[in-house]
Amino acid sequence: MAALSASPPTAGVSPSPRPSLVAHKNSVTWSAAAGFPPWRARAAGVTAPPIYWDISKKNWMETPAETIVTENDVPLLSFAEVAERLDEYHASGARNQNYMAMYSSIFGGITTDPSAMVIPIDDHMVHRGHGVFDTAAIMDGHLYELEQHLDRILKSASMAKIALPFDRSTIRSILIQTVSASKCTQGSLRYWLSAGPGDFQLSSSGCANSALYAIVIQSPSLPAPAGCKVITSSIPIKSPQFAVMKSVNYMPNALTKVEGEENGGFTGIWLDDEGFVAEGSNMNVGFVTRSRELLMPRFDKILSGCTAKRVLALAEQLVADGMLSGITSRNVSVQEGKAADEMMLIGSGILVKPVVQWDDQMIGSGKEGPIAQTLFNLILEDMRSGPPSVRIPVSY
Ligand SMILES: Cc1ncc(COP(=O)(O)O)c(C=O)c1O
Repeated sequence: MAALSASPPTAGVSPSPRPSLVAHKNSVTWSAAAGFPPWRARAAGVTAPPIYWDISKKNWMETPAETIVTENDVPLLSFAEVAERLDEYHASGARNQNYMAMYSSIFGGITTDPSAMVIPIDDHMVHRGHGVFDTAAIMDGHLYELEQHLDRILKSASMAKIALPFDRSTIRSILIQTVSASKCTQGSLRYWLSAGPGDFQLSSSGCANSALYAIVIQSPSLPAPAGCKVITSSIPIKSPQFAVMKSVNYMPNALTKVEGEENGGFTGIWLDDEGFVAEGSNMNVGFVTRSRELLMPRFDKILSGCTAKRVLALAEQLVADGMLSGITSRNVSVQEGKAADEMMLIGSGILVKPVVQWDDQMIGSGKEGPIAQTLFNLILEDMRSGPPSVRIPVSY
């Protein structure tokens, strides 16, 4: 039987007070004496052997290759011991983000303890992908475009046949209260509507109640509008029925992003079933044509991005100023896209990010364009001082 997680205490190597990366001729390997978890080593490109967390030594221990874990070696834990281990897991630095508060309709409240931010394994969102989600940025103590994101998650839930656990105004109130409890003024709110826990069947008919989960993540830094490269994705695009819905089935999106990164780019770009430009892994795409027209693919086969829609509205100012000649949503061919003066990615995580290279083709001058930069500034200003229709104050 393969080693799972626990080994006899004697099997480990004594902890060392300071990290040690052992340099070999061609590589650097992780040593159990390093005193820090292997996923940190892997993030640094270092090879890490199988290890386990020794609760009594409070350190990571190397599992000797010859260790055979018998059934009795896997500890049976009380709820209190699980909580203690979850605390230690969190304290180990395995998570690299600040989770400030979580709401769960399962326990019907908010927790600020990251160790308690868990969801049931029999939730159909976990084992069947039967859930939908959405986000909203938190900027200077305000939620940006919450109403627009709420409209979208309710539409996604309806398409996914997920009955709402609460009405819209209650969901909205829970989300704002979660941000308030988090005390986070800069970051993001993420929330999920799930078919709910109940069993491991395929149909959600055995789930007594749908569920709502929300989490607040603090991130003080803002995205920078630095130019990037994109590649045409080889991962099949989702069919329109699933692409227009923001469900948790993001495997194609994740693989498109990874494929883009593996090829030295920021992300992958999908083409639709007719070969027209569709969208990026978790962002929309816009172009500025040679005749200074802002051009975006229609939203009928892709996710209707809240940021892209806001960009389309804010860009009217640039038409009035003469910076743009017009704004159009229609099919965009790859040839037309690659010949554009500017190309940009648009989404709530990046705001507006210029694309300077698509596959082997430089876009425009090969440098960040002025319209992308201006649209980035307009969105940022809208987040900081836009109208009440896009900015909801949180009382802390
Ligand atoms: C597939 C996809 N397209 C586009 C977007 C951009 O949407 P938004 O601007 O609402 O973040 C996202 C973001 O979640 C996405 O996942």
